[in-house]
Amino acid sequence: MFANYDSPEHHLAQRPGLTAELRKLLFDTPKEEWGSHNNYWRGAEMWQGIHRSLLHESGLFVGGLEKLADLPKGEMEAALLLNDMRHLGGHLIGHAHVHHHVEDDHYFPRFKEVFPQLGRPIDLLDCDHRVLEETLDAVEGHVRAFQAEKTDKDRIGAALLDAKKLDRILNRHLADEEDIVIPALLKGL
Ligand SMILES: [Fe+2]
Ligand SMILES: [Fe+2]
Repeated sequence: MFANYDSPEHHLAQRPGLTAELRKLLFDTPKEEWGSHNNYWRGAEMWQGIHRSLLHESGLFVGGLEKLADLPKGEMEAALLLNDMRHLGGHLIGHAHVHHHVEDDHYFPRFKEVFPQLGRPIDLLDCDHRVLEETLDAVEGHVRAFQAEKTDKDRIGAALLDAKKLDRILNRHLADEEDIVIPALLKGL
């Protein structure tokens, strides 16, 4: 548990980034040096690759829903795009859940064991996952309702709002997580 997580300086949906107090606890390899570090291939590269693909899928999902929101209902193109969004949304949700589980069950406990100074930053990420899971559940509810015969403009609009929220908090979480985790991975886990 992260004390005071619900305050605006810490909560995922509100914070502008990590506080100075948390940054002081991190290893300080500058971002520009990550990719050329000797240990980059030992986990950090894969970690960033997964994040990039999650953000790519999330961006495509928001873009597709925006296009769908502008298409007249009943058009063949709208039905096809809706079907694509059902698949893409389902994939994004599954991918994010699996990634969170791997971090929660394996990497985060290991980081805390090997680098005790990262305890608080890792607890923050752990709380972030709960916020992300709530939004993923909301998006999942929309995706399940994406049956062409039942889907209306209101549903698309609500899905778009939640997809944009997910995209925003996913970007925040992944950027902060990389600042916490990548320099530690480069040290060697
Ligand atoms: Fe995470
Ligand atoms: Fe992650």
